[in-house]
Amino acid sequence: MNSYAEVLGDSCDGDKKNYTEVIVEEGKNISKLLNDLIGLIKLEDNSVDLNSEKFDILELIKINLRKYRLDLDEKKVGVILDSKGMEEVWVTGDKFRLSQVVNNFLSNAVSYVENGGKIRVNIYKKQERVLVEVINSGPKISGNHIDYIWEPFYKVDESRNRKYGGTGLGLAISKGILEKHGSEHGVVNLEDGVKFWFEVKIRGEQQST
Ligand SMILES: Nc1ncnc2c1ncn2[C@@H]1O[C@H](COP(=O)(O)OP(=O)(O)OP(=O)(O)O)[C@@H](O)[C@H]1O
Ligand SMILES: [Mg+2]
Repeated sequence: MNSYAEVLGDSCDGDKKNYTEVIVEEGKNISKLLNDLIGLIKLEDNSVDLNSEKFDILELIKINLRKYRLDLDEKKVGVILDSKGMEEVWVTGDKFRLSQVVNNFLSNAVSYVENGGKIRVNIYKKQERVLVEVINSGPKISGNHIDYIWEPFYKVDESRNRKYGGTGLGLAISKGILEKHGSEHGVVNLEDGVKFWFEVKIRGEQQST
C-alpha cells in the first residue's frame, strides 16, 4: 500500500503531495504497530523460539546507532560509545531479538534526550555476562511512572513527548525478549537523565521459555 502512495506522491504536487506523504507516514505507523503487536503476542504465548548464536554485540550496537544519525544531528546530541577498550564483545543469544532490544532502548534515548544533550552507551564485561547501559541526559521519569513503563501501551504522557508518536510497546517487547534470555534488566533515574540497562550471557544455554 505504501509503495502505491509513494508513487502517487511522486506524480503530485502541492496539497495532494502533502496528503500522500501523510498516507505514507500513517502507513508506516500502522505497520510498526502491527509488527509490534504480533511480536508481543508471540512472546506472551510462548510461540517464539530463541536462536542461540554467538555475535559481537559491540558491532550490533554500532550498526543500530547509525540509524539515528540524522535525528541525533538534528537534536545536536553527542553520542559516546564506551566499550572499555574492547574492540569486539562476543555474546550468545538471539541476535535478531537482542537487536530489537538495543533498538528500542536507543530509539527511546534519542526521543527523550533534550536538544543539545548527550547519550552514552557503556559496555562492560562482568564475569560470564556482558552489561549494556544506555544513558540519556534529560528529564527523569517522574513519580511512580518508572514502575509501569515496561507494561504494554504505558506511556508517560507529558507535553514534552506528545510529539513523539510511539505506542508504548517497545519496552514491553524488550522485557519479554530479555526474560526469555534469562537476562537481568532495569531502569534507573540519574541526577541528570535516565539509564536503561540489560545483561546478556557471554556463552551458554539461555532459557527457551
Ligand atoms: N529514555 C527515556 N527517557 C524518558 N522516558 C522514557 C525513556 N524511555 C522510555 N520512557 C518512557 O516509557 C514509556 C514507554 O516506553 P516504550 O519504549 O515502551 O514506548 P514508546 O517509546 O512510547 O513507544 P514505542 O516504543 O512502542 O514506539 C515512554 O512512552 C516514555 O514515557
Ligand atoms: Mg520506545
